[in-house]
Amino acid sequence: MVRSAVLSPPAPPGSSAGPRPRFAHESEAEFARILTFYGIDWQYEPRSFPLREANGQLLEAFTPDFYLPGYDQYLELTTLRQSLATYKNRKLRLMRERYPDINVKLLNRRDLFALLAKFGIDPRGSGDVPQIDRVLFDEETIAERVAELGIRISEDYAGREIVLVGVLRGVTCFMADLMRTITLPVRVDFLALSSYQPEGGTLRFTKPLEEDIAGQDVIVVEDIVDTGMSLHRLLQYIRRRDPASVRVCTLLDKRARRVADAPIEYTGFAIDDEFVVGYGLDYQQQYRNLPFVATLKRQS
Ligand code: IMP
Ligand code: MG
Repeated sequence: MVRSAVLSPPAPPGSSAGPRPRFAHESEAEFARILTFYGIDWQYEPRSFPLREANGQLLEAFTPDFYLPGYDQYLELTTLRQSLATYKNRKLRLMRERYPDINVKLLNRRDLFALLAKFGIDPRGSGDVPQIDRVLFDEETIAERVAELGIRISEDYAGREIVLVGVLRGVTCFMADLMRTITLPVRVDFLALSSYQPEGGTLRFTKPLEEDIAGQDVIVVEDIVDTGMSLHRLLQYIRRRDPASVRVCTLLDKRARRVADAPIEYTGFAIDDEFVVGYGLDYQQQYRNLPFVATLKRQS
């Protein structure tokens, strides 16, 4: 009988704390750097799980790409085509049957594209800029919805003064339009978060708040909330400055991908898990100036 210990090296060949592993694929290296950016510990291929043996001989094993010790979660990335994904799915099924207590998640090509595209990385490595696929919200639809939000905010805060805190750079169009539909005295300030750099580093504030928000009613204005990880950090930052109240207003909400729970009071549009550009939102710093919100074409 072959036991898993036989295949488990004493220490992971590479981890966020240790030496840089030899990644089998560039998208794995990129994924590791993204985890590091968000301060999530990871190990690369720390363990192999025997799946099938005959006469004491190992016939099949499975080595998930990553292990996240803080979440007790194994991750298998696959950028493969559908036929090979089916093969991996089978391994995953065997894995779950045999090791029901081990948490393994498969991130397929589509999930990975969405994650990498968000950071301006083209996982296909082609360097080509993907093309606009279809318009989700045109100029008029956006203008109407933004006006509705402005009216609601003006009613909810009637008789008060508010501070709008926008998150650069995606929020520029939304902030400019939203503030002009609010009929209260407002102060406007901006924060900027470091964006993910392939060279490494962790999330930090590259532009702090300049207004004193202690005792003020603050509305955080975002272009889009996706996993919610940035908003989570941002709200911690705001609350440390003792505002009287904090609410969140976002143009777009990609609820399906939420990891860190985020309370959102004002939402322009809820959207599916698709990568979008325009009206301030970018892909590799392009498309921000489109007056509408559109999805990008992607290869599958
Ligand atoms: P979160 O921390 O995952 O919620 O990411 C939020 C940030 O990721 C947003 O403020 C955007 O800058 C960026 N982002 C997420 N999804 C998209 C998208 O579909 N298009 C463009 N940028 C996006
Ligand atoms: Mg942003």
